[in-house]
Amino acid sequence: MKPARHLLQGLLVAASLLLTGAPHAQQTAPSANTVKMDSLRGGVELSKEVPVTGARQQRDTGVKDRDFVQQPPLVPHTIEGYQITKNFNKCMDCHAWQRAKEAGATKVSVTHFRTREGQELDNISPRRYFCTQCHVPQTDAKPLVDNTFQRARGLR
Ligand code: HEC
Ligand code: HEC
Repeated sequence: MKPARHLLQGLLVAASLLLTGAPHAQQTAPSANTVKMDSLRGGVELSKEVPVTGARQQRDTGVKDRDFVQQPPLVPHTIEGYQITKNFNKCMDCHAWQRAKEAGATKVSVTHFRTREGQELDNISPRRYFCTQCHVPQTDAKPLVDNTFQRARGLR
C-alpha cells in the first residue's frame, strides 16, 4: 500500500502548490504597460483560415532588366487566375514555341527542354513545368528589411 500513500502525498503537495501559486499569478496579470503581441496571422486562431489581403500584382509592364544573366526573368504581367496543374499549364498557352509569336510573348528558354540527366526533349522538361517556382510576378510592396543587393557588375 506504500505506493498509494506516496501518490496521495504527491497530490497534496501539488494541490498546495497550486493554491500558494495563485496570488503570484495575480501579480503578473496584464497591466497598462504590458506589450501587446500580435502574429502575422493577426490574432486569428490556427484552426481558422486567414482571408488573403492586398497582395496586388503589378499590372502589365515592359520586360524587366535582369540583375544577373542566370536570373529567371521576372514576370512582367499579372498571373492572377493562371493555373498550372498536372494536366494544364496556362503559361504555355502563350510561352510555348508554337504559341509565342501569335501571343507576342517570349519563347520559353531552350534550357527548359533539358532533363536533369541532360537529355533534350521536344517539350518542356518536367523540372521546368512549374514556372512560378522560379518566375515571379511583382508587387510594389515596401521591402520589409533594408538590403545592399546590387546588380551584377557585368550588367550595370
Ligand atoms: C495571355 C498570354 C500570356 C500568358 C498566359 C502568360 N504570359 Fe508571360 N508574357 C506574355 C507576353 C505577351 C510577354 C511579353 C511582354 C512584353 O514583351 O512586354 C510575357 C513575358 C513574360 C516573362 C518575361 C520574359 C523576359 O524575357 O523577361 C516571363 C518570365 C513570363 N511572361 C512568365 C509567365 C508565366 C510564369 C506565366 C504563367 C504563370 C505566364 N507568363 C503566362 C504573355 C503571357
Ligand atoms: C527551375 C527554374 C525555372 C522554371 C521551373 C522555369 N524557368 Fe523559365 N527560366 C529560368 C531561368 C534561370 C531562365 C534564364 C536562363 C535560361 O534561359 O535558362 C529562364 C528563362 C525563361 C524565359 C526567357 C527566355 C529568353 O529567351 O530570354 C522565359 C520566357 C521563361 N523562362 C518562361 C518559363 C515558363 C513559361 C516556365 C514554365 C513552363 C518556366 N520558364 C519554368 C528558370 C526557370
